[in-house]
Amino acid sequence: MNATVTGFVGLPVISSAERLEQFIRMSDFDHPTLVVDSSAIVGQYHALKSGLGRAKIHYAVKANPEREIVRKLAAEGCGFDAASRAEIELCLSQGAAPEDISFGNTIKRPRDIAFAYQAGIALFAADAEEELHKLAEHAPGAKVYIRVVVENTEADWPLSRKFGCAPEKVLSLLGMVRDLGLVPHGLSFHVGSQTREPVMWTGVLDQVAAVWRDAQAAGFDLQLLNIGGGFPADYGQGEVPHSTYAAEVMRMVEARFDNVPVIMAEPGRGLVAEAGMIAAEVLLVSKKSDTDTYRWVYLDIGKFSGLAETMDEAIRYQFITDRDHEMTGPCVLAGPSCDSADVLYEKRPVQLPVGLCAGDRLIIRACGAYTSTYSSVGFNGFPPLDVVVI
Ligand SMILES: Cc1ncc(COP(=O)(O)O)c(C=O)c1O
Repeated sequence: MNATVTGFVGLPVISSAERLEQFIRMSDFDHPTLVVDSSAIVGQYHALKSGLGRAKIHYAVKANPEREIVRKLAAEGCGFDAASRAEIELCLSQGAAPEDISFGNTIKRPRDIAFAYQAGIALFAADAEEELHKLAEHAPGAKVYIRVVVENTEADWPLSRKFGCAPEKVLSLLGMVRDLGLVPHGLSFHVGSQTREPVMWTGVLDQVAAVWRDAQAAGFDLQLLNIGGGFPADYGQGEVPHSTYAAEVMRMVEARFDNVPVIMAEPGRGLVAEAGMIAAEVLLVSKKSDTDTYRWVYLDIGKFSGLAETMDEAIRYQFITDRDHEMTGPCVLAGPSCDSADVLYEKRPVQLPVGLCAGDRLIIRACGAYTSTYSSVGFNGFPPLDVVVI
């Protein structure tokens, strides 16, 4: 986490991480709670913006739709990538202009398209014929960008297969956009979430650049290249600074695409993850047998209450305890629900203090993205993740 924030009057400036940790230590939480530092998000926005240069940022609201985050980003001039009517309404209610909102979900309800269009949203994603018919009917004349499916196996949280059309299908969809009276405006892709190094964009950018050239050769005057998200958060693996990463991606984009009029990026995780920490509690530490190598540590938060991205142990969170000065040992980490899928890390156990016991507080770092909205409403009677924005 590299953002710094101004401290209280008379106190030295402290980092966002310190501020979050201090706030959590000084507070009493009844349930697992995500604490988000909104000024750190503004800092990340400017860091990414400085690296992205001429690319316009549309924050992927799904990463964390807290009103205050959206309001602060809108006030900074940030645009928004919305996935649903509710996200569009949220952005509009927090001061975003309709022309700064794109409807980026390729699977939209017709009545949501109509709502968005009437609200002034003019930019829509699509990757299939039926979706284009919906857009032609409910958003006549709208600008459409076609999402291209890319090979993106290098991301920690890949977004392959489900979204986008095959490169060889793009031209026919662009033709259909035009024939339906819509505007064939551009292309989009997603390199995969948590793409840890800029170099991992190389192959994906090559694939999309080839499609872009084919579209130009076929006479489509494309205006927009939407490079999606993928900008990583620091989960303790020592990622490059956000601005450096973004600048390197832009260098690679500009080298492959000739004079694209408008470039857009949709960071989610990279904007908000590091600005949040979860306050959690240890509920139980046990061994399954006297000879078991690993302790099982059960927390009051699990896969169904915010930590869904531990699926396949894809995202590896970092933990802070009050016993971090003690010796550590390997643990299987699990959530509190009675579902046996609610195990966070087992294939690669986590190192936690040997003295850890029920009642200990545990702070989970870099949890600002894809946690609060992934938590179930009441699985096993556990309430959804609380959120506090500071
Ligand atoms: C269309 C779209 N854009 C942007 C994002 C944000 O991606 P990331 O959080 O990796 O930046 C997502 C994530 O699912 C997405 O679906």
